[in-house]
Amino acid sequence: MKFFIDTANLAQIKEAQALGVVDGVTTNPSLMAKEGITGKDNILKHYVAICNIVDGDVSAEVIATDFEGMVREGEALADLHPQIVVKLPMIADGIKACKYFTDKGIRVNMTLVFSAGQALLAAKAGATYVSPFIGRLDDISTDGLNLISEIRLIYDNYEYETEILAASVRHTMHIIDCAKLGADVMTGPLSAIMGLLKHPLTDIGLAQFLSDYKKGN
Ligand code: E4P
Repeated sequence: MKFFIDTANLAQIKEAQALGVVDGVTTNPSLMAKEGITGKDNILKHYVAICNIVDGDVSAEVIATDFEGMVREGEALADLHPQIVVKLPMIADGIKACKYFTDKGIRVNMTLVFSAGQALLAAKAGATYVSPFIGRLDDISTDGLNLISEIRLIYDNYEYETEILAASVRHTMHIIDCAKLGADVMTGPLSAIMGLLKHPLTDIGLAQFLSDYKKGN
């Protein structure tokens, strides 16, 4: 499973990249605003800065909600850097734009996906990634992980190549569960990734090894 980090924070992206297990970055307008990155030019520069830190795919989201606007913005985003994947909302014009970009060889991540039907449409339109938001489904008492299973089944039935990018991952167990269910990618905060490291027996065992070494030296 590929690991993407879901942030626009350059320090965290650098830390994740240095760990050596991060395959890409996802951002969205809220994550940009959280870092105080505002204004079209600053946002575009920030995407380039992110691409210069990581080796993998960087999802950059359009703001337009109409086909022509999405095409205009998406083409500008794709021109920024070869690592950019154009992120489009799961609405009718988003699907049209997905087909348009896919036909041109520009990769697309369909975002704000909350149902198996939406994921089926994304695959039909040739999306590179589909982003089911599992945490936001959990937030409204709906099993987000179940959506990952449904999409996995559908995509496997028809051998769709669209990759399931489990998004809105909020904690470490989400990552483990997504891996069990066969998500191709997960995107989450650095804290959730770092949580995979933790085990008290590792810390206890290491302390014991070091103390025993000191006794003999
Ligand atoms: C995905 O691409 C989104 O940026 C993100 O995962 C949303 O997560 P949230 O529901 O925690 O805001």
